[in-house]
Amino acid sequence: MTKITCLIDNTVQHASPFWGEHGLSLLIETDAGRLLFDTGQTEQVLAHNLNLLGDAPRAITALALSHAHTDHTGGLNVALALKPGMPLYANPDLFCPRYAIRDRKYRSIGLRMSRDELARRVDLHLSATPVEIVPGVWTTGEIADRSELEGRSDRLVVSGDVGWQPDPYRDDMSLVMETTRGLAVVCGCCHAGLLNTLAQVHRDFRKPIVAIIGGTHLVDADAEHLQRVVRMLREVYGAPRLHLNHCTGERALIALANAFDDRVQPFPAGTSLDLD
Ligand SMILES: [Fe+2]
Ligand SMILES: [Fe+2]
Repeated sequence: MTKITCLIDNTVQHASPFWGEHGLSLLIETDAGRLLFDTGQTEQVLAHNLNLLGDAPRAITALALSHAHTDHTGGLNVALALKPGMPLYANPDLFCPRYAIRDRKYRSIGLRMSRDELARRVDLHLSATPVEIVPGVWTTGEIADRSELEGRSDRLVVSGDVGWQPDPYRDDMSLVMETTRGLAVVCGCCHAGLLNTLAQVHRDFRKPIVAIIGGTHLVDADAEHLQRVVRMLREVYGAPRLHLNHCTGERALIALANAFDDRVQPFPAGTSLDLD
């Protein structure tokens, strides 16, 4: 079994009992274990949506965070209560203070929990290189080569040696899952850039990428970059299946669906994918 359920996304299906919010949380289930990837924006939505899954959340044995932003870590308290002391996987840069600027005001959008508190409540695994969470499910580690377009923004900043700078999102990572057909790349927000992330997975894991799932941060990509993404997906990666949500953006979803037809699907909260 290799199954992913979208627990939280910006969208839900019509008449779904699941609640939506701007955020992402995915439940990943394999024969080797169950893990939660990101926790959405609010404790209320995560608690409500977990409740709808019945007993399944009780078997979650690990947690991974794609990056620190509150739309991925806001439900952390609810996730930690599922199994106190469980292993949590993230990049070491997770605790860097991060801010969004609007009308010259700085709003904190980083992790709301201190490193000390988190270390007390989980078995903390911080690594910038790939780590196997359960057999067949890996972190990508830090995306080192950013030669393709990435999601940096003048409005999302960190404080550096020379003052405020656009957040380089060193904490951003995705997951890689081995399925019977090949690799699935599972993205949280993909601030490091989809093509950068795929290139690193391609280089490090050396198996075909058959599916890309989650938030791909193409929301600000212009038409030229979207065409480049289409070309690379077709020519380098053999047109993998795309199950896209969160920060992918409607224009990107339409451009990709125009190129790859029904190999592209939205992935709203409350829906599941069987990857085998
Ligand atoms: Fe983000
Ligand atoms: Fe996000």
